[in-house]
Amino acid sequence: LGKEKNLIEEIQRLKKEKNAVILAHYYQQEEIQDIADYIGDSLGLSQEAAKTDADVILFAGVHFMGETAKILSPNKKVIIPDLNAGCSLADSAPTDKFEEFLKQYPNHTVISYINCSAEIKALTDIVCTSSNAVQIVDSLPKDEKIIFAPDINLGRYVAKKTGRDMVLWDGACEVHIEISADKLKMLQGKYPNAKLIAHPECQENVLDEADFIGSTTALLKYVQENEATEFIVATEVGIIHKMKQAVPHKKLIPAPANTDNTCACSECPYMKLNTLEKIHASLVHLQPEIFVPEETRLKALKSVNRMLELS
Ligand code: 13P
Ligand code: SF4
Repeated sequence: LGKEKNLIEEIQRLKKEKNAVILAHYYQQEEIQDIADYIGDSLGLSQEAAKTDADVILFAGVHFMGETAKILSPNKKVIIPDLNAGCSLADSAPTDKFEEFLKQYPNHTVISYINCSAEIKALTDIVCTSSNAVQIVDSLPKDEKIIFAPDINLGRYVAKKTGRDMVLWDGACEVHIEISADKLKMLQGKYPNAKLIAHPECQENVLDEADFIGSTTALLKYVQENEATEFIVATEVGIIHKMKQAVPHKKLIPAPANTDNTCACSECPYMKLNTLEKIHASLVHLQPEIFVPEETRLKALKSVNRMLELS
């Protein structure tokens, strides 16, 4: 514990020395959330990355989040604790295949979920996150033809909510699709009064049963504002940390993972690659740094800015 205390003190000192800000996603380990300057969902984190006046952004999240920060703040140094922290959803849309796919659907507006590479964002008209996807699709004229990528589950959910017939790219988050409707049903049997709340990256049969669907920030808000005292939380387990702090008197039941891994809850292996030790090392060396080629960045900036204007 003493070692961790020293590490945290050292991180705080380095942060001041280098004029760095630490942005962390809700799926980060608890000790990382506790040292962050800002914790949020993908939309909140992008807004924060766009407005910070720090010289260095340390993004405790995954690679595409660091890239988005760099797209928005090209003159800042953007570092992430581990370059291997990728995202299965972003990886499900490789650039060459996506370009081929787009050719099959000319005259379509391309909306991409922020969980994709800078190159995919550069091929996109409007970026969205789980907190504004419905609003962004709704903002387009009714007769507009739309491609929605890369998350098929979020895409189906948005199509249902907006009544639009969109062309969907077949990508998914390996963590959220492991959350099984059967296991949730068993939990609901055990906790009959609990509200089932889910992230829209979950599969359709999970979302069909949910009392509430939303981004991580929206789920956190829901447990605070809803009068229920028990919640089954169908997303990555990291969000439980802030929920516990916000509603210590309520019972929060994390969704079980389907597979037999070391944790009984749903954990994102990429988000969990980040540690306090790696954060410390990246502040010392200001590495690994995120770079986005300028031509790609300028194109990607357009689609990210359209999202920010509409949010
Ligand atoms: P949000 O925090 O925007 O809901 O995104 C969830 C997620 O899977 C990030 O990788
Ligand atoms: Fe990607 Fe899923 Fe992990 Fe989010 S939870 S970073 S979508 S793999």
